[in-house]
Amino acid sequence: MNHLPNSTAARDIATLIHPYTNLDRHMTAGPLVMTRGEGVYVFDDSGKRYLEGMAGLWSVSLGFGEQRLVDAATRQMQALPYSQLFGHRSHEPAIELAEKLLAMAPAGLDKVLFANSGSEANDQAAKLVWYYHNAIGKPRKKKIIARTRGYHGVTVYSGSLTGLPANHADFDLPVGGVLRADCPSHYLFGQPGEGEAAFVDRIVGNLEQLILREDPETIGAFIAEPVQGSGGVIVPPKGYFEKVQALLRRYDILFIADEVICGFGRTGQMFGCETFDIRPDIVTVAKQLSSSYIPISATLVSRPIFEGMLEESRKQGVFAHGFTYSGHPVAAAVALETLKIYEERDTIGHVQRVMPHFQSRLHALAEHPLVGEARGIGLIGAIEIVQDKRTRKSFAAADGIPAMAAAATLRHGVIARAIRDAIAFCPPLIISEAEIDELFDGVRHGLDEALAHARAKGLVSTS
Ligand SMILES: Cc1ncc(COP(=O)(O)O)c(C=O)c1O
Repeated sequence: MNHLPNSTAARDIATLIHPYTNLDRHMTAGPLVMTRGEGVYVFDDSGKRYLEGMAGLWSVSLGFGEQRLVDAATRQMQALPYSQLFGHRSHEPAIELAEKLLAMAPAGLDKVLFANSGSEANDQAAKLVWYYHNAIGKPRKKKIIARTRGYHGVTVYSGSLTGLPANHADFDLPVGGVLRADCPSHYLFGQPGEGEAAFVDRIVGNLEQLILREDPETIGAFIAEPVQGSGGVIVPPKGYFEKVQALLRRYDILFIADEVICGFGRTGQMFGCETFDIRPDIVTVAKQLSSSYIPISATLVSRPIFEGMLEESRKQGVFAHGFTYSGHPVAAAVALETLKIYEERDTIGHVQRVMPHFQSRLHALAEHPLVGEARGIGLIGAIEIVQDKRTRKSFAAADGIPAMAAAATLRHGVIARAIRDAIAFCPPLIISEAEIDELFDGVRHGLDEALAHARAKGLVSTS
């Protein structure tokens, strides 16, 4: 790492606070500086090429060189670089994007409220749950059930919905009103000898007990990612969402589907809700909405929720919520172009064609001595790194084996992400079969290096 005064690394260390980074280690380790991208690849400032196996942060669906998105932004910047949606103002890109989103979205969604990030989309979803229940005269129905290992963002409330200890520790989160349900990973949380169906019945039973214990009249909504991403790519077992939804209907609890990762093709259908037969009342989207070329997110709501909002704004005089950049015209124009590309190029069809190869290369990793489970759906997946396959015991955190495997994979020119004991993969949706091979060849090299290290340290047997 070049830390010479005025080097890029030194300037970075002198000025930037890096999200999700060990800030102390960064002072000596310094940054990995990326300079450009092309297709599924990105290049660092030494010219080294990496296959972006995480599509940035689960998000650059169209890869790194989509000129049409650049042109859409340029055209809109030239025509009208900024306008707002406050106070009855409007503009064509926001209207057209809302029309397109509603036409694509799961059935029953009626209106779109724009924001700028996944966190904001979930934050405002929670506010709408509260606003709606006030409107319909159920002011006690406010708590929101979120799941262990769910990830919904980092703002004060979306961070509270997030069910990962690291996001709470010493940030004084969660704030009140959040209830926690089980994570639906049979591999991680199934009891010895418990089959998948029995596991589903047990955790759905726990959910019902939670609802009854808290009083259904105090619970407004349940929030879930169809596939949990940052929690380690947890694909729910068969029947899970069907049983959860039956419960929620029984107790009149809204379903917020956080489609921030799953939305726009990741699971092999346009939305995770289609893949898992979820009928949501509220849907949040971000990331692949604009292929991450520009920040934009949205919260889509059902007709009854919008009617509640109408009622409240009559009462209050105004719907007093919105961001300066809600429905920013340049962001809306880029998102609209992204959705047009998905349709014109049949991006979902492409995902369906290549996902069997992705899943077969992913599942082949289960043979590796360090891999306890390989799991995934569509073009998203993860492997669980274990010290002992039989007992599913993970390595001690201090041994850092998953991070070491991801770092070795990076040296082999492939970006994958270590998340606790898992390593996740979520490439651009445009990836080809040959590039999928390159991705998993790199991962295998990384795993072999981590295994050699673990053996040398006596952490695993050499047999
Ligand atoms: C499922 C999910 N929801 C919400 C968020 C938060 O989005 P953002 O980082 O844009 O605030 C993320 C980010 O990774 C996510 O994966």
